[in-house]
Amino acid sequence: MDYSKFTSKVSEKRTENLIRTMAAIFFENPGIIPLAGGLPNTGTFPFKEIKVTFKDGTQHQFVGSELGTALQYTSSKGYDPLIKIWREYQQRWHSPPRDDWDVVTTTGGQDAASKLFDLFIDEGDAIMVQIPTYTGTLGAIHAFSPEFYGITQDTDGVIPEKIEEICEARKKAGLPQPKLLFINPTGSNPTGTVLTEERRVKIYALAQKYDFLIIEDDPYYFVSFLEKRSTSLLSLDTDGRVIRLDSFSKILSSGMRVGVLTAHKDIVRKIVTHIDSSTLHAPTLSQVLIHKLLVLWGPEKFENHLNDVRDFYRAKRDVMTALVEKHLTGLAEWFPAHGGMFIWVKITVIDDVYDLVLNEFVANGVLVVPGHAFFYDPSKPDQHIRLSYSYAVPDEIDKALGIIAKLIREKAAKKVTNGN
Ligand SMILES: Cc1ncc(COP(=O)(O)O)c(C=O)c1O
Repeated sequence: MDYSKFTSKVSEKRTENLIRTMAAIFFENPGIIPLAGGLPNTGTFPFKEIKVTFKDGTQHQFVGSELGTALQYTSSKGYDPLIKIWREYQQRWHSPPRDDWDVVTTTGGQDAASKLFDLFIDEGDAIMVQIPTYTGTLGAIHAFSPEFYGITQDTDGVIPEKIEEICEARKKAGLPQPKLLFINPTGSNPTGTVLTEERRVKIYALAQKYDFLIIEDDPYYFVSFLEKRSTSLLSLDTDGRVIRLDSFSKILSSGMRVGVLTAHKDIVRKIVTHIDSSTLHAPTLSQVLIHKLLVLWGPEKFENHLNDVRDFYRAKRDVMTALVEKHLTGLAEWFPAHGGMFIWVKITVIDDVYDLVLNEFVANGVLVVPGHAFFYDPSKPDQHIRLSYSYAVPDEIDKALGIIAKLIREKAAKKVTNGN
């Protein structure tokens, strides 16, 4: 594909950072004599060893040159051994139909998404985004002032017909098609939907028909409660129009700040150019640690871990769903959570939850996110709240939902008394 019609003016101005190019040669060629980069001498660093013990008892001690590598700059594209191993995993999970794809590590999925918006969006460009959507995504998009189309969801995820309506309307009006669709297909934040297999195929076909790119932001890919893992859009990508974002945040550690972008190698190259002059690379220590874990564990143990993570959240989801039913029946409607960490609840007896959440819930010791956070225009009234089951224990959830229900009832009663 020729990506030039999709890229932004600002991204076209980004130039190669020659020092980082030399650095990449250094990191990929261990024997080469380094007189190029301003690499600090790791001998001056105060760390003698870093010892790690995983929960299964596996241990590793980073010392000597391995420790030096972990503490040093690395290539903008990422720590090479991790890149190589993650390519193998992507092949195993997604079998991308083309062979010209590549991967780059980023400082979490959020960093990758914001770099993609910078790469593709000029002011006024039409883009389509699953709505409601994760606040961090919306925040990153806002700065680019696109013509924003929200694509609504039902319990099966994004509705393909909405995409078609927008594209057809623009076609009729003689306007260019949206450049991209941003989609969070599995365990969507905040709705907990998992896009059905049928819709995945439909949406990819629409991308081909109307020629737009798809950003597949999939940090909850492994936190799906359906029978089997979904077919990723990357797996369907015969054209090179899908950019897939994975993240270690929900499966290994969120504080490590590592994600992986997988896309056609030309797109990966452009992201690397941006990294060259921004973050330089995702944290080496984190990447080295992740790589070591993957090597020590091997695919079987890693898969077992991923399944354990999924089972953990599924059990939490079950607990919260039962408690939502117990406390909020008659006051609210909610999406069944098929994946991820959230239940998306519509408080049907109140017109706008903002004041209730920010003032009354908080004052009574309960924190939830008001639905406003997940819409492009947060100033509009909204009836939703996002409940997270990832962290609190069952007793806390029970107590919090009891408080929420009581406050909703009180507020709704006031509404009736005031006649509005
Ligand atoms: C849908 C979605 N995308 C991206 C992110 C950012 O994740 P990361 O920690 O990988 O930057 C989150 C975090 O909650 C998320 O929910």
